[in-house]
Amino acid sequence: MNTFAAARVRIVLTALVGVVLSLGAAGCAQPEPEAEEPAVETVEYDPAVWAESHPEIFQTWMATSEERPPGLSKYKRGYDGGVMFDKLSEWPFMALLFNGFGFGIDYQEPRGHYYMMIDQSHVDPSRVRSGGACLTCKSPYAEQLYREDKDALFAATYEEAVAMLPEAHRSLGATCIDCHDNEALELSTRRWTMDAAIREIGLEPHTLSMSQQRLMVCAQCHCTYSVMREDDRVVDIDYPWEGSEWGAITVENIIDALMTQPERLEWTQTVTGLRMPFIRHPDIEFYAANGSTHWMAGVTCADCHMGDITLNNKTVPNHNLMSPLKRDMQVCLRCHAATPEELKAEVIAIQDANAALLIDAGYRTATVAKLIERANPYVATADEGAKARFDEAVEHYRQGFYRVIYMGAENSVGFHNPQEGRRILGDAVTEVDQADAILRELLTSWGAPPPPEVPLELERYLTNRGVYAKGFVREQYFPDPTGQAERRWPASLGALLR
Ligand code: HEC
Ligand code: HEC
Ligand code: HEC
Ligand code: HEC
Repeated sequence: MNTFAAARVRIVLTALVGVVLSLGAAGCAQPEPEAEEPAVETVEYDPAVWAESHPEIFQTWMATSEERPPGLSKYKRGYDGGVMFDKLSEWPFMALLFNGFGFGIDYQEPRGHYYMMIDQSHVDPSRVRSGGACLTCKSPYAEQLYREDKDALFAATYEEAVAMLPEAHRSLGATCIDCHDNEALELSTRRWTMDAAIREIGLEPHTLSMSQQRLMVCAQCHCTYSVMREDDRVVDIDYPWEGSEWGAITVENIIDALMTQPERLEWTQTVTGLRMPFIRHPDIEFYAANGSTHWMAGVTCADCHMGDITLNNKTVPNHNLMSPLKRDMQVCLRCHAATPEELKAEVIAIQDANAALLIDAGYRTATVAKLIERANPYVATADEGAKARFDEAVEHYRQGFYRVIYMGAENSVGFHNPQEGRRILGDAVTEVDQADAILRELLTSWGAPPPPEVPLELERYLTNRGVYAKGFVREQYFPDPTGQAERRWPASLGALLR
């Protein structure tokens, strides 16, 4: 088929969809930008070339490098006023839980897309130990390098992999070609990982509807994945989506995949000695799971994180993707009649409730990790019955731990799917409480009853982390909005906050 002709048909379709959408959102019809002639003929990585035909969009895309206005977002402050925020100081239980992994050393809140490669070049070296695989969702060249020689890409150290990139583009993060097909400019994904994941949920890549495509361009990186290993060699990047379907990539299915496929084990948790998989930013999964209100209403990531902007008398989608709170909720007003203040209060209320649950589940999980640490020396010499009980406790711990890190890694602090967040964190607490009860019973039977508040030694995990000797940043800490955590773990949090 003549691809150029097909491309033009697609442009017309895209324009039509745009018109229908703007009619649907009553009372807020924006002037539709004209569909432009395809400007770029071959795979074009260089955003400057795209800028020739889309100078306004290019300008907004470049603005992801700008610092964010401080004081507008309560929980997602990445780069507000030019300051970077340390996730482990915000949520100290994570430092204990992630000890033994790069994330337990250096884990920062995200900032603009401009920085995705730049931030990897400053991060603690432990965070790029997976080498070439780290380019997968950071460099637009990942797909090409994978197709040319995937073994070489995965065998490379991080520095070697960066050296495979053209010199001028070694700091280039998500660019036009990551989300657009350069013949037609229509939305398209460009990663083998996404193609495989789309098939796993029963769809075919390149046949997605426009609204699916609008979600999937973001989902190709805002999703969880495993760095797959065989004999400690990286062999691929894979999303744990098997057994799931569109709109129902559930935390339960993800945990099943993590628990049953040993290739997904990536690190050893220091406190417990357990080999572990990991869960990273499950944004599409959490947003879409179990009928969230906005998902059911057909709202996509771009609706809330892009919005439109007028530059040079042209209205274009604002490619400076950021928190809606940092834009005074303007993107919400297209669909909601409430005032920005009311909408913001609703978001913060949802996030406070979620943060309280996350903090509670987080310290309960950290306590169980410390109980496993205490139990470990006795297990080798324990009788079969006690060993089986211990294994049962570990199973409950894993179920709780995975749910906590899932909720800790999704980027909206519960907003994307409030009901689902409550459900997941409720289940996490049920699981770790069962582990807690079994471990206390075992330790008591071994003559080593633990104290009611097991010391968490948080300072130990937060201080002197990695080559930059990172420490606890007191003013970045998120207190429990209900005040419960500081009362429930007075010794452990007291020691840290003093
Ligand atoms: C190629 C991978 C990739 C794609 C595609 C992608 N993102 Fe991101 N996104 C990232 C990474 C990585 C970061 C964090 C960058 C950093 O901190 O250095 C990020 C950060 C963000 C942030 C935080 C910005 C800030 O100011 O703090 C938002 C919001 C965001 N992305 C939304 C989106 C949306 C919406 C889409 C789809 C339209 C999308 N992203 C597509 C990888 C991607
Ligand atoms: C992270 C993904 C992402 C990146 C990177 C990206 N875009 Fe987009 N772009 C989108 C999305 C999503 C939309 C659709 C917005 C909508 O449907 O409202 C879009 C829409 C567009 C449109 C259609 C405008 C219209 O009004 O219909 C153009 C043109 C465009 N982008 C050009 C660019 C250029 C040029 C670059 C690079 C400088 C770029 N995009 C980078 C995600 C991206
Ligand atoms: C209904 C609106 C809405 C939709 C749809 C939505 N988000 Fe969000 N998103 C938010 C809000 C509100 C926050 C919280 C921002 C804050 O606290 O500052 C957020 C936070 C984020 C952040 C963290 C931003 C930061 O500054 O660090 C990322 C990344 C993100 N969302 C990505 C996505 C992706 C990817 C999708 C689609 C799968 C999506 N969002 C869909 C409203 C939305
Ligand atoms: C494209 C349209 C659209 C956009 C943009 C949008 N929403 Fe919504 N929102 C809806 C629809 C539709 C519903 C469900 C019907 C209702 O409750 O009004 C909804 C429901 C809600 C609810 C109730 C949630 C629940 O679970 O019942 C809240 C809170 C909310 N939106 C906040 C926001 C905020 C904050 C933003 C901006 C960050 C936003 N929305 C952006 C369409 C949108």
